[in-house]
Amino acid sequence: MSVKTMQTQEVKELLEKVAGLNQAAGNDRIKTIVHRVMHDVFQIIEDLDITPEEFWSAVYYINDLGKNGEAALLAPGLGMDKYLDIRMDAEDAQAGLAGGTPRTIEGPLYVAGAPLCDGFARMDDGTQAGDIMLLTGVVTDEQGNPLAGATVDVWHADLKGAYSYFDQSQSEYNLRRRIKTDALGRYVAQSIIPSGYGCPPEGSTQALLNQLGRHGQRPAHIHFFISAPGHKHLTTQINLAGDEYTYDDFAFATRDELVVDARPVARSAAGERHGVTGPVTEVEFNIKLVSTDSKDQQEMHKRQRALA
Ligand code: DHB
Ligand code: FE
Repeated sequence: MSVKTMQTQEVKELLEKVAGLNQAAGNDRIKTIVHRVMHDVFQIIEDLDITPEEFWSAVYYINDLGKNGEAALLAPGLGMDKYLDIRMDAEDAQAGLAGGTPRTIEGPLYVAGAPLCDGFARMDDGTQAGDIMLLTGVVTDEQGNPLAGATVDVWHADLKGAYSYFDQSQSEYNLRRRIKTDALGRYVAQSIIPSGYGCPPEGSTQALLNQLGRHGQRPAHIHFFISAPGHKHLTTQINLAGDEYTYDDFAFATRDELVVDARPVARSAAGERHGVTGPVTEVEFNIKLVSTDSKDQQEMHKRQRALA
């Protein structure tokens, strides 16, 4: 059966009342958004002839998603974080702020307030015997001038692909540090090479991905926020080369410029400057920031974030 009711006066008036358009109180922006969203939902129901059974399974899916705390996990899987990045890239291009190291999604697993270190940080608590990662790089402006005192906020998963705080079995702020660059713009971190990440296999995100014939895996990756006075705040990540999912990331965060080799070396000059001797796996990520006077651009956008 396929009936058309969207153009009727009854449905138009219903949508206006739903969104409070006939009320003086409330928030106009929210009203506009809700009116549009509900219109489009109704339109989808009409166009795709959604059955009551399909409709209610979607409603209870959202209930479960919330109960599992997975709404912000599902969003990247549905390409929404990537889409916001595409828009921000286009806005930067329009504002003449393109260039520098590319952004990519923040993901849902950042925790604010990680220990702040000068030049060097040991990120792991020593409880997992993984390959020693020596993560190093230089933060510069677009002309290649080093930026001393830039803040490099780094977070990554452990050998299980799990993040501290969200995985309560890990110590506080394990694999999370903020590092101030030295006088030459350099940062160095000793850690463990992270494993790839997978969505909770019994969770709501994976349940939907299964229906789409998709996996819920991310390659081994390392997250960064980088900020320096007078420069645009950068949210980005690197994906390690050679991972099965490097170019098949369910969260769509991979960009060619952000794929980095993990190179086993007998010794690391950057590591030895900080007393890390012997064989390590070196991961080098140099970061170029774009200069801007806009205070707004110098800060990360607001969103709900955990604070341990
Ligand atoms: C998700 C997890 C991540 O570690 C990440 O970086 C991005 C997204 C997720 O579960 O959606
Ligand atoms: Fe992640």
